Amino acid sequence: MPINIAIDGTAGSGKGTLAKQLAKKLGFGCLDTGAIYRSVAYYMVETGVDLSKGENIAKAVKKINFKVVFEADENGNKVQKNILDETDLGDKIRTEQISLASSIVSQVKEVREFATKIQHEIASSFDVVVEGRDIGTVVLPNANYKFFLTASPQVRARRRLKQLSLPEENYESILEEIVERDRRDTTRALSPLKAAEDAVYIDNSNQLPEETLREMLSYIK
Ligand code: DC
Repeated sequence: MPINIAIDGTAGSGKGTLAKQLAKKLGFGCLDTGAIYRSVAYYMVETGVDLSKGENIAKAVKKINFKVVFEADENGNKVQKNILDETDLGDKIRTEQISLASSIVSQVKEVREFATKIQHEIASSFDVVVEGRDIGTVVLPNANYKFFLTASPQVRARRRLKQLSLPEENYESILEEIVERDRRDTTRALSPLKAAEDAVYIDNSNQLPEETLREMLSYIK
């Protein structure tokens, strides 16, 4: 049986970076599940689906020709590619417009079923770190290891400010966005963001990324 490691957490908790680092250290693949929701959103935006109606989204997801593949890079690490109609979407799914659209489409049951099926196929094929919002709770409740990462909203706002190289005057609005996104992620009806009861909960407000990585590795035998 392949080994599965689930990492869930809040936006800005560093879970994406830490999932990649952990996977590299262990020689595992790393699945960014948000990229699947983003790819679905990209398809819907490109084909002009009216996202104000859940039924349109549910219908459109049935027509999508999408797959996730893993390709070895020059160091032999498995790298995720999100393929729509035989084309790698690359960074096209990383825009603000797609972030917003993905938070809408990810609330639709049919989209969650579509994304979960892909995640199950990958998790049952090889050793993988799976990173998202509902991995330890819904997608892989029997994962070998589960982590839930977070940090205070203030620390996450500071990190984002630095990441985007924005001046201090943007701090308050970024903080507001983070609080609002937490509220949306934790209160949505389907698969809300929450720590699995058996997850290792790490608040990394006062940790450097390498300290969080070391703490996570200390749990893995
Ligand atoms: O992690 P991210 O920002 O790339 O995620 C994009 C969107 O997908 C975000 O609005 C939350 C949603 N998502 C989800 O509902 N479940 C997941 N397992 C991963 C992401």
